[in-house]
Parts: sequence; structure tokens; C-alpha cells
Amino acid sequence: MDYEKIVSEHQTPVYVYDVDILENRVAYLRNYLGENVNIVYAVKANTFVMPFVHPYVDALELCSFGEYEIAVKGKVPYEKMVISGVYKDEASMRAMFNGEIPRRFTIESLQQWNLLSKLCREYGKTIEVLLRLTSGNQFGMCKENLESILDQNDDEFIKIVGIQYFSKTQRHSLSILEKELDKLNTYIDELEHRYDIRIEEFEYGPGFPVYYFEGDEFDEESFLKGFSEILKKTIKNRKINIELGRSIAASCGEYITRVVDLKKNETGTYAIVDGGINHIAYYGQTMAIKVPHNEVVPKRDGNESYIVCGSLCTINDILVKNFQNKNLQIGDLIVFKNAGAYCSTEGISLFLSRDLPRVLVKIQEKIIEVRGSFKTSSLNG
Ligand SMILES: Cc1ncc(COP(=O)(O)O)c(C=O)c1O
Repeated sequence: MDYEKIVSEHQTPVYVYDVDILENRVAYLRNYLGENVNIVYAVKANTFVMPFVHPYVDALELCSFGEYEIAVKGKVPYEKMVISGVYKDEASMRAMFNGEIPRRFTIESLQQWNLLSKLCREYGKTIEVLLRLTSGNQFGMCKENLESILDQNDDEFIKIVGIQYFSKTQRHSLSILEKELDKLNTYIDELEHRYDIRIEEFEYGPGFPVYYFEGDEFDEESFLKGFSEILKKTIKNRKINIELGRSIAASCGEYITRVVDLKKNETGTYAIVDGGINHIAYYGQTMAIKVPHNEVVPKRDGNESYIVCGSLCTINDILVKNFQNKNLQIGDLIVFKNAGAYCSTEGISLFLSRDLPRVLVKIQEKIIEVRGSFKTSSLNG
């Protein structure tokens, strides 16, 4: 990528999401998971790419009314929408029922079941649902609640099509995933026998990992082959939908920030950049000890070690504590890689009233600015 050209036209700090990388990424995952496995994109990872990625995935998981609004604006087909989320408020649900109805909803509590059942009747509309089983947190339902829905399952407007289960993000142990899938399949079989029903689908969030930091090693190909074998072994006679956020979106994104000041004191050599932890947060980063995959533009070799700090007036605003073997100059760009999932939304964006960065989407050689720089002072004052 010609970073100098991009920033000369759009300035720093800036995110760039490359749609070609995203498309190839989905094709890569599909290749290992197999054609029989549906891929569901959990859009919380990156909503900017939704309008570009929806043709390549089988469904999109939307967890808030905001995500739904972005999906509508991005022309995501309603039959690809899965409305999920721990809080489905009545006003938002009504707004959805008032228009063209998303095909599918998840049910995460008895209250959600009652609400959707009421709305289906009132609007005379039919929906498909996935009953979400909890993985031991605030999401989904315990077995008792889930089964109480199956006990009274005579709702003519709601079709229960499957069970949803989200494991945990950044799961890299195949043996843990195998045990979990085995147990879940046994449980779903049990439900089918006990209630004399057919549970057609199983929607599973395996939390495929992304390796963000220098020195982390990951043989993704073996991991995906192994996972695919496990799926074939454990989930039989059921349609499988794999929900992924991080693993789909991370690699398509880069965050570019510029060195704006250099200084030394008894604690080290500091490189101040125009971005900061308000713009970029990496899962698993603690105290800026790890070095995210990065590139310095122009390329510079040296033997100086820098503490790379952002522009927030807090001592916590350190991006990398030990940025080694460099010879940074004011004006240099630091490009942080694998920044396509969560990195832009998990930062403390409103702190110190610094502007939000621009967001660019790259399609082949074309760059589109999908969000301009945004003044947070208008929100904080
Ligand atoms: C239900 C569900 N599915 C999928 C995901 C995406 O997880 P990941 O980004 O680890 O793939 C999440 C993340 O919180 C989730 O809650």
C-alpha cells in the first residue's frame, strides 16, 4: 500500500480497511470450513465493512439497533440478518417489526421470547429463532429456561430453527473446542429426543484467534484443518453456522499514525504520535509490553529503542513500550497491522476530546473515505 500517498490525501491518524483482503479472507476460511458450513459475520468486530462483506457471507449477526441501522443503510438483505443481543428493547424491536422484518432473531432470555412472541402476534409476522444457550456468563439462557421454551413451544408465528452458542473469543485450543462441541451435540440430540422435535441448525461462535504481536506463532492452516475435522466428527446431521468477528475482519485493517515529536529523558526516548490508545486497542495487550505487527514508513534501521506514546494527557497512553531497533524521525508513519476488528471501537475514544480518525475503505486501487475525522469536542461539551 502506498501509505505516503494515502496520508497525503487523507491525513493521519487514519484507519484503512482493505475490501480485497476481506473478500480473500472469507474465501480462505470457507475453503477450510467447507462449503456445507455457513459463515456468519459478527458485525460488532467492524461495522464499516458491512456493506462490502455481506455478499460474501451467509448471514450477519447484529447485536444492537445501531448495528441494525448500519446494516439497513448498507443494504444488507433482511434475509441475511440475525438480530442478536443481550438486550432487545421493545422500541427497537417494534421499529424492526414495522418495516421489512429481519429473518432471524436469537432468544437470550424468557423475557425476549415473550416480547418477540407478543410482537409476532400483534404484527401478524413470522420469524425464525435460535435459542441461545449460555456459555456461563450473562449471554443466553440456562438449560432450564431454554427447555421451558421448548415445553410451551406452540407458537404459530415463531419457528425454532436451532441452538446458538458462543464459546469465547481468542480460543486457540482445539481440544477445548472439541470437548465443547461434543457436549453440545449430545445435548441437542437429547433435546430432539425429549421434545420429539427436529433442531435443524447449530450456530456456533468458536472465537477463532488472531495473533497480533511480534513473536507470536500460529499455524492457522493446521488449526483450521483440525477444527474442520472436529466439526465433522462432532456435529452430525445438522446445518452448521460458524459465527466469526475477529477472524474475519482483523487482517483487513491498518491504523496509520504519525510521529509528531521525539524527546529523551532519564526514563527513555519517547516518540509521540498523533494517535493513541483512544484509537487503537489490541486484545491481549497489557501495559504496552507486546509489540503489535507494524511497519515504519519510510523504512528505517537503527539501534534506538523508543517508548511510543499517543497524544492523550495520561501516562497510560503508551502504544508500545519497547519499540526496538529504529531510527524514528518526526513525520514518520507507524502502521499498525491487523487492526480491522474491534481495535477502533474498544479504545477510549472520547477521552481528552481528541478527534476520531478518518476511516478509509480500499477497493482494489480505489480509496473511499467512509467517515471523515469527527470532532469529539461536540460530544464532550
Ligand atoms: C454471539 C457472538 N458471536 C460471535 C462473536 C464474535 O467473536 P469473535 O470476534 O471472537 O469471533 C461474539 C463476540 O462477542 C458473540 O458474542
